[in-house]
Amino acid sequence: MGLVALVACVGALLVYDVGRAPEATQAFAEPVRNATIVIEEGGARKGFSTPEVTVSGGGVVTVVNLDSMDHTVTSVANGPDGLPVFDVRIAAGTTATVPGIDALAPGEWAFYCKFHPSMRGDINVVGGGGGVEPERPTFEQPLVVPRTETGAHIRLVMKRALVRTRPDGPRTSMWTYDGTYPGPTIRRRGGRGTEVTVVNRLPKGAGAMSTHLHGDHHASADDGQPTTYLIEPGSSRAYDYPLTVAGRPEPGSFFWYHDHRMDRTARNNWRGLQGMFIVTDPPLPGLRLPTGARDVPLMVSERSFTADNQLTDPFAGGPEMVGHHGQMAWTGPKAPPDDATVGDTVLVNGREAPYLQVSATRYRLRLLNSSPFSSYNFTLSDGRPFLQIGTGSGLLPKAVVRTGVLLGPAQRADVIVDFSGATGRNLVLESVPAEPGYTGDNARQASVMEFRVGASAPDPSRLPSRLPSPKLVSPVPSKVSKTWTFGLAGDDHASFWSINGKAFDPDRVDHRSRLGTVERWRFRNTSQVTHYVHIHNEQWRTVLRDGKRPPPWERGLEDTWRLDPGEVVEVAGRFTDYTGAFMIHCHMLDHEDHGMMARFDVVR
Ligand code: C2O
Ligand code: CU
Repeated sequence: MGLVALVACVGALLVYDVGRAPEATQAFAEPVRNATIVIEEGGARKGFSTPEVTVSGGGVVTVVNLDSMDHTVTSVANGPDGLPVFDVRIAAGTTATVPGIDALAPGEWAFYCKFHPSMRGDINVVGGGGGVEPERPTFEQPLVVPRTETGAHIRLVMKRALVRTRPDGPRTSMWTYDGTYPGPTIRRRGGRGTEVTVVNRLPKGAGAMSTHLHGDHHASADDGQPTTYLIEPGSSRAYDYPLTVAGRPEPGSFFWYHDHRMDRTARNNWRGLQGMFIVTDPPLPGLRLPTGARDVPLMVSERSFTADNQLTDPFAGGPEMVGHHGQMAWTGPKAPPDDATVGDTVLVNGREAPYLQVSATRYRLRLLNSSPFSSYNFTLSDGRPFLQIGTGSGLLPKAVVRTGVLLGPAQRADVIVDFSGATGRNLVLESVPAEPGYTGDNARQASVMEFRVGASAPDPSRLPSRLPSPKLVSPVPSKVSKTWTFGLAGDDHASFWSINGKAFDPDRVDHRSRLGTVERWRFRNTSQVTHYVHIHNEQWRTVLRDGKRPPPWERGLEDTWRLDPGEVVEVAGRFTDYTGAFMIHCHMLDHEDHGMMARFDVVR
């Protein structure tokens, strides 16, 4: 039978060849119908090996992943459902077909990898093709600014609640601080002690929780760490935040609070346990920043939803924890480095694609990226600049004009936008990939929210140049007292994210620092992906980025740094006020949950 088929086939080929005149071959040359996208070893850094492919309508696009990491081929354009027109995950060492290509209208369809957004390319659809065109983003619901709490004693009840996230359809069941996502925004003057009591009324199966006030300086027992001082189901814990540093008021900052439970931080944050905390300065003479309704905190985060608007569970079927040469490690399809929790839908203050009506005046926007994994490079659609006046940890010494503000998980930026001259226009806050040639994990593509600019209005604010920024630690020690190396460890069977070769062990002290001293620390990234390094307890200054003075927006106080593959960053900080255990970790939450955390103790 095989022989018959073969003969028939050869016969057909012969007939086809003979029947085809040379001119006809030219005139009716069929373009290559199918196309192949190849990812070679090291794709996260090198990009797609075939960034431009051409497919004729009805053809098939195959992705061959020869790398040791999972990747996706995801369209930049969204369809009518607000989701990428095509999106496929290709496991390490496998092949997949890009779905829906035959439906696409002819043209260039940009794509990228959701896990490593600097991997980018274009699928060129020629000939035939279908009728699917990219949708223009729409902004259908107003931005919601979370309720503000200003008292000295604040009570937050963690509970399940139905919250509005998407413009239509059912509300989303989430785990909340006090019934909303994000939880209430706490706003307190520096130096005014604040006690926040967190009550755990989450469903029993959620387990014990731990609330960390990210960026703040407070005692180890009030730090909300992974395994100690937990909030058991049905119980509560009072966290004491003096909002002081070495006896003085903490400088005005943009902090946030979130769950920090061992192995469960990614899940608990995804479910909704996140809120903002603003520390304010007393009125500073000569500084006239936008205030009131023109001071807008924006928590940007991403999630994926089911068709009835419920959160997907990307953690189900997650990696399994195993022992590996005396350490914890993970095994299974989502083990490191394939543990990337990316959401399809970007939320601002908990809502998908919101709009904000603004007057044609200056606004202060406090941008926070609370996503588990993704970075955003924020831009405004008309190229209008941001004037960055602060990090999350205080004002910068000097305001910086930027058209793109790249923020990784847990990073914040305090910016002023002047909407004057835009009356009647709608400006979109977007995330676009950073400049070509940028080697780290780039920012994802997204239309984040819209500003609808109305008439101009009286505006008492002024753009500051010099800023009354908090003092930086000085002098900086010339000697590095600790190097933290961020890497991937283990083997094909079991892997973990590591710091100095080890997975996190809450009972192991990885470094000791003496109270009252200044230390200089060095971070190195030996892995193939970017990490975002966060240090608890103190505010630090960035001394060097790759041997050079850091860029102007990194010259203030910081608690979270981008660390690209191969990069070396040095920071300096002073240990004041508190002894005890604190954490240093990657703030990509799956990395944190899968080993990339260490403990340092401040000792007398
Ligand atoms: Cu924002 Cu250790 O965390
Ligand atoms: Cu990381």
